[in-house]
Amino acid sequence: MGFTEMPTNNFVESCFWNFDALFQPQQHPARDAHDTFFVSEPQVSDIKQVPPDYLQRVKKTHAEGGYGSQGYKVDWKTEEAEKNILRTHTTAVSARMLYKLAQQEKFTPVKYFSIDRVFRNETTDATHLAEFHQIEGVVADYGLTLGNLMGIIQEFFKKLNIKKLRFKPTYNPYTEPSMELFSYHEGLKKWVEIGNSGIFRPEMLLPMGLPEGVSVIAWGLSLERPTMIKYKIDDIRTLIGPKVDLQMVYDNPICRVEKH
Ligand code: PHE
Repeated sequence: MGFTEMPTNNFVESCFWNFDALFQPQQHPARDAHDTFFVSEPQVSDIKQVPPDYLQRVKKTHAEGGYGSQGYKVDWKTEEAEKNILRTHTTAVSARMLYKLAQQEKFTPVKYFSIDRVFRNETTDATHLAEFHQIEGVVADYGLTLGNLMGIIQEFFKKLNIKKLRFKPTYNPYTEPSMELFSYHEGLKKWVEIGNSGIFRPEMLLPMGLPEGVSVIAWGLSLERPTMIKYKIDDIRTLIGPKVDLQMVYDNPICRVEKH
């Protein structure tokens, strides 16, 4: 589908790229230790690597607003942004890539993807893991709509022969509008959430320096949940973790995607 891969080779991320750059307020419950794994060594990242003018614009947008937004009207602290965590989503990488894109002399449309591991401090059960894989997609261009977003997602799942798809309006701090994605699991006999998506907010994109009028549609899918649906697996813990049947690993061919 013409996407290029993003570099996701860092499990440890700063709160800045995982949350703040995405206009996720510092008081947001997802930033709590109940949902996020904090890293104790080193506890903080080198925030000086973030260009100071950009950091200031992010701070201001959160605390005072700007770009047509009221902001959150609460104090924004560097000490919160520099904390190291295990990334909770690969959208942290998308934020880094979009910032980089915004630094180009002239904007060019892009289609990016990544597939890599994310971490959430969750109690595991048949459909939840504390570490899983995300399939992330980002498309940036002038005039993209929600219709484009739904079309690309449908096309992607059609290729996997997953046709029972539903979109449900939801809320994310960094996208508006936002939609959760559901697909029907024949074994569990219910619709399960397989991803989340939306159009990135101006409060995220404009401080980066992307031109007004550029819209960025994006999504993050679970790799394991659609795998459960496709292969009729009832318990996600049989896919990664200590419950994995090693014979399943031995019996399955290694899958390689060649670039050319
Ligand atoms: N980061 C979201 C999640 O982890 C997925 C997402 C990505 C939503 C991009 C919107 C845009 O659930």
